[in-house]
Amino acid sequence: MSGHAVLRGEGLTIRFGGLVAMDDVDFVLEAGEILGVIGPNGAGKSTLFNLITGLYRPSAGKVFLNDRPLNGLPAHRIVQMGVSRTFQSSRLFADLSVLDNVIIGMHSRTHSGVFDALLRPSKARGELQQAAAKAGDLLRSVSASLYDQRERAASELAQADRRRLEIARALAAEPKVLLLDEPSSGMDDRDTDALIADIRGITARRPELSIMIIEHDMRLVAELPHRVMVIEYGRKIAEGSFQDIRNMPRVQEAYLGRKAAAHA
Ligand SMILES: Nc1ncnc2c1ncn2[C@@H]1O[C@H](COP(=O)(O)OP(=O)(O)OP(=O)(O)O)[C@@H](O)[C@H]1O
Ligand SMILES: [Mg+2]
Repeated sequence: MSGHAVLRGEGLTIRFGGLVAMDDVDFVLEAGEILGVIGPNGAGKSTLFNLITGLYRPSAGKVFLNDRPLNGLPAHRIVQMGVSRTFQSSRLFADLSVLDNVIIGMHSRTHSGVFDALLRPSKARGELQQAAAKAGDLLRSVSASLYDQRERAASELAQADRRRLEIARALAAEPKVLLLDEPSSGMDDRDTDALIADIRGITARRPELSIMIIEHDMRLVAELPHRVMVIEYGRKIAEGSFQDIRNMPRVQEAYLGRKAAAHA
């Protein structure tokens, strides 16, 4: 890590009617850092990603990417500037192949291709071949098994592979910052271990890539993030290494409260 803040949030606040879903949250993500985001269901974790990526407009507060404000920019512009994400629920193109899903991810950055394809088909064909080769390389670098399944429709993939594909598609936009929203959800322990290894591989090949990862699986949270921030009712209630935060009474209360609610 370089100690340089790639992504920064200041006083982020959003209200939905009477609900304050995010309440004056500050955060910093350093270059090369993996920052975990945890908290009970409905705490505001996905809302934070929606605020960063321009899907939601904050009621107050700002987000900066390398000191450039992102506020007010449309979501596709924020992708082009270097912030990619996955969603909690799958947003893959189910009928398209694995490879095509990655190619679409590449185009979400460049936006080229569509007009070329119409006006200059031969040039477009060459570009498409290049794109396919690049997408294949990317797939292989994320997961060999995904690469082997590159011609299959996304809908035919096992759940864990679908999650991997979403990560590969987000990486196709060549982000500086990657936001992962519960990548291990729906995975068993073995798949989660494989996911941890995949993410390690991704960061090893891209030391400058910074990642924010929302997770409920504490094994993953214990292993991957350099730092963890804890959100409850839209507020940041703790931040530090996993070892630091895990024993904080405030954090345990938030989770015990959640368990009690789940058992009610
Ligand atoms: N577009 C919206 N309109 C109204 N309320 C919203 C909207 N988006 C989020 N909320 C509310 O904001 C709160 C935080 O939701 P959010 O999805 O960010 O929680 P979360 O921490 O990601 O939870 P989970 O762990 O279940 O995914 C919830 O009460 C949710 O109902
Ligand atoms: Mg969520």
